[in-house]
Amino acid sequence: MIRTLATAGLAAASLMGMGGAVNAQSGEVVLYCAADEAICRLLSESFQRETGINVLMTRKSSGETYAQIKAEEGQPRGDVWWGGTGDPHLQAAQEGLTSVYQSPMLSELQDWAVRQAETAEYRTVGVYAGALGFGYNTDMIDPAGEDAPTCWADLLDERYRDEIQVANPNSSGTAYTLLATLVQIMGEDEAFEYLAALDDNVSQYTSSGSAPIRAAGTGETSIGIVFMHDAVAQAVQGAPIHVVAPCEGTGYEVGSMSLIEGGPNPENAKLFYDWVLTPAAQELGAQANSFQVPSNVNAATPEQSPNLEDIKLIDYDFALYGSSDERGRLLARWDSEIGAR
Ligand code: F6P
Repeated sequence: MIRTLATAGLAAASLMGMGGAVNAQSGEVVLYCAADEAICRLLSESFQRETGINVLMTRKSSGETYAQIKAEEGQPRGDVWWGGTGDPHLQAAQEGLTSVYQSPMLSELQDWAVRQAETAEYRTVGVYAGALGFGYNTDMIDPAGEDAPTCWADLLDERYRDEIQVANPNSSGTAYTLLATLVQIMGEDEAFEYLAALDDNVSQYTSSGSAPIRAAGTGETSIGIVFMHDAVAQAVQGAPIHVVAPCEGTGYEVGSMSLIEGGPNPENAKLFYDWVLTPAAQELGAQANSFQVPSNVNAATPEQSPNLEDIKLIDYDFALYGSSDERGRLLARWDSEIGAR
């Protein structure tokens, strides 16, 4: 609370320091938010209430947000890109679409969040982390049953024909994390063979990464491949969902935030950036059923969050899979070998 008030004070002081006239005209910040709608709205409303700065927020998936910022290159309309998986943030950084900024909050962040910033030469920063996995509807699959799925390999079983949903990796950071994870676990050709076999069981490639587990929650499909915290969110809200950390090991995201290069409200963008890294702002996640691990070491991790230390995580190569060449190449291969099937 104290920290939040101090930051609000900092906002007011900076606003005055910049000269009231400038800020009276530009009392807004344009937020591109690439996580779930509920947390995007809660962060926007809270920042607006605490600072008086009007937040104009649009929500899209991670890959879609990257594509929008790329399309607006030279005429940027957004100020801050908050949330979504780290890979497209790294790609944007490499392409100079986002600005260098070292927040005074950096010293309070987890090592993995600072490493993300260092990888991007401070054009992005980690805001949360979460592991990939899947969830299934327990009215449709018995978790106590001998053949309940526990591994990536189990998802290829023909009894799940048309019973799995996962997102499209072009639009969704979740699905791109799946693609990069499988490549790192299996090797690239084997990963594409796996994805082709999985395709026989996939009924729908959604645009949003968390849509598949919502569909599993309502019984529209049995299984959704998603971040584990998104499966937990459904279970917490009462859906009959069992959450799985795949036995072979799994990848994870460092959800990130970047300032958009040349955005219309750079000072307010920095105020939002610093504020959203405070413990109080990060602890808003739980209220919005967002159960990622927050990046500020002083922010409490929600008790429902999957414990990353209990999950067999791969040593995900963020620099490689967040590079323009590799992300572009893997997505093109997915389009031609899986999307076009
Ligand atoms: O907000 C939930 C979440 O899973 C985030 O943890 C993640 O960064 C984002 O959604 C990914 O969404 P998408 O796959 O739609 O890009």
